[in-house]
Amino acid sequence: MSKTTVSTLQQYKQDGKKFATLTAYDASFAKLFSEAGVGVLLVGDSLGMVLQGHADTVPVSVDDMAYHVASVSRGAVDALVIADMPFMSYTTPIQTYETATKLMQAGANMVKLEGGEWLYESIKGLTERGVPVCGHLGLTPQSVHLFGGFKVQGRQQSQADKLLSDAKALEAAGAQLLVLECIPTELAATITQALSIPVIGIGAGSVTDGQILVMHDLIGLTPGKPPKFSKNFLTDGRDVRGAVAAYIDAVTDGSFPGPEHSFSS
Ligand code: KIV
Ligand code: NA
Repeated sequence: MSKTTVSTLQQYKQDGKKFATLTAYDASFAKLFSEAGVGVLLVGDSLGMVLQGHADTVPVSVDDMAYHVASVSRGAVDALVIADMPFMSYTTPIQTYETATKLMQAGANMVKLEGGEWLYESIKGLTERGVPVCGHLGLTPQSVHLFGGFKVQGRQQSQADKLLSDAKALEAAGAQLLVLECIPTELAATITQALSIPVIGIGAGSVTDGQILVMHDLIGLTPGKPPKFSKNFLTDGRDVRGAVAAYIDAVTDGSFPGPEHSFSS
């Protein structure tokens, strides 16, 4: 397989080919996922929860991210590696460039930021300087305390309108990819159709161009009750490789996520 790039993903969108992506935090899983055909690996700040045991992603630092990005990039083979910019590491354009420098030099191919229109200048600046950007809208976990918990976003019309205009602003600023998290399927469909860049969903129904899962959810490692939008694919495969293959198949043929993993308006 050849290296997945933003052009590959753009082509998938044009061809209507659904694609499966995963989070990864170390070299071994990155290598296994990449060799199994997962073309995009996100070093998510979800590592604050699944690796570090925190209740949310707020405590994660840029150094934490850089350490895991370096590990993942060594194992990633052909996968595009996206690095999350952690909480409060992109409050101004200058700070954003400094954070992006560390993550790109650690081995990332793209950075991801949570937020809408207020990021316009930072995203424009990053792309002008050669750093590809992935947006993230909906339930943006770094804002969990503002939201009052991990709650579905965009159910009110005013919120939905704002999410659509934010998505358009991110694309206009130069973002080449967008993650939509925990929003009603109908709204995810509207946003996916309104944008020419590929959209990756989690808890956004099967209508987005791609899907992402936290790897710990894929293999049933998440303690407690798993999130509604996730699925343990280890029960479909015999081992981790089998689980990844089952996940790719289910995303590609549109059977995952099903209505039981999705939210209505
Ligand atoms: O940190 C993460 O794992 C994420 C995905 C859930 C999109 O941002
Ligand atoms: Na994240």
